Amino acid sequence: TRRNALIGGATVTAGAVAAGGINAVRRDGGGNPQVEEAGATAPLADAVVGFHGDRQAGITTPAPAYGNFIAVGLRAGLDRTDVRRMLKVLTADAADLTSGLPPIADQEPELAEIPANLTVTVGFGERVFDIVDPAAKPEWLKPLPAFEQIDQLREEYNGGDLVLQICSDDRMTLAHAQRVLLKGLRSFGEAKWVQEGFRNASGSLKKGTTMRNLFGQVDGTINPTTEDSSMDEVVYGDLEGLEPWAPGGTSLVIRRIHMNLDTWDEADPPGREDAVGRRISNGAPLTGQREEDPADLSATTPLGFPVIGDYAHIRRATATTPEERILRRPYNYDLPVSAAGGLAVKDSTSGGVSDSGLIFASYQADPVRQFLPIQQRLAELDMLNMWTVPIGSAVFAIPPGCSPGGFVGDLLFE
Ligand code: HEM
Repeated sequence: TRRNALIGGATVTAGAVAAGGINAVRRDGGGNPQVEEAGATAPLADAVVGFHGDRQAGITTPAPAYGNFIAVGLRAGLDRTDVRRMLKVLTADAADLTSGLPPIADQEPELAEIPANLTVTVGFGERVFDIVDPAAKPEWLKPLPAFEQIDQLREEYNGGDLVLQICSDDRMTLAHAQRVLLKGLRSFGEAKWVQEGFRNASGSLKKGTTMRNLFGQVDGTINPTTEDSSMDEVVYGDLEGLEPWAPGGTSLVIRRIHMNLDTWDEADPPGREDAVGRRISNGAPLTGQREEDPADLSATTPLGFPVIGDYAHIRRATATTPEERILRRPYNYDLPVSAAGGLAVKDSTSGGVSDSGLIFASYQADPVRQFLPIQQRLAELDMLNMWTVPIGSAVFAIPPGCSPGGFVGDLLFE
């Protein structure tokens, strides 16, 4: 029976652990992690995403199961030398942690041994440029304009002087890395906000499957890819009309968007599909059968109405020029509803049971030319706005990656 099968499965798992079925990480003479297989495999134990390079990791690399976004507020009075020292500490710690090595001052070094695809991506708010090199500040580096039709921004999720995007397939690894990195930053600043996100667990979806968000929608179908030139064009500005603020640099927009699951539950299946213009079951456009079928925005019903409505999210969001494209790399969030019954947003139904949404993270070479027109259109008309409310907003400049001898942001000190 199913019950027996489950019990049987549990016994096998317990047996594997008891027999030492967990990989152990040992150091070789050079301090490099050496994973020893003991019984069952632990495929993530030594999964490393390279830290150094012309571009930072954590952008075009596959998104791990967990992603935390941390905005840091820098202390008053920091000067150029302080910021340089801070970035060197941050880089050294991030380079160690992402390769499975505990940084020097790590007080729980065992927790650094399993990187599980850990990435640390660093971004700058305006103040870093103001302190270090105001002339290098990208013109677009400022808060997005208010979208009065939809925004209910809360200061606790806005802005920040520095951002860390920390992703890993192991929540333990992430928690430890976050603590070590923030300890390293302690004398320079402190966390202004932390947004914790998740996707499906590693291994629970076939490779290449598009994630779903908490509305149950397939989310991420139309995105640039490294299989052609689209990723370089969109994220690194390799396109006529776009220019990155620095070669290998880009920008990160983080919009925290509340999703009202309680009122979404009241929408019937056709209404849900109409709102986006795609099927819930497999993400196919309403004019096609499979997820990868192109959406036909000109298709009409026998009565002459558009199959994909004028108000459908994908019609409103789709690029109208080659520049108007972004890399969406979002994470879901799901918080406990507070004892006071308070959901994050005013319009939430009373008695709601979820405080959920999307940490909508988007990378593009120039947020004003690429992200802004899309967001403006969506603010004016998008059926999804019935259930979604932006509650946080921040823009950061992402510096290029660094070589083993350098540090993230070293270009500002040249
Ligand atoms: C497409 C959901 C917010 C930009 C989609 C799709 C879904 C979706 C289900 C269709 C599948 C896909 O291509 O990924 C959501 C939800 C949001 C949200 C639930 C808020 C909670 C935004 C925002 C932007 C945006 C804020 C940008 C400002 C796009 C773009 C596409 C898209 C560019 C692809 C359009 C195309 O060319 O077909 N979104 N989205 N979305 N979304 Fe969103």
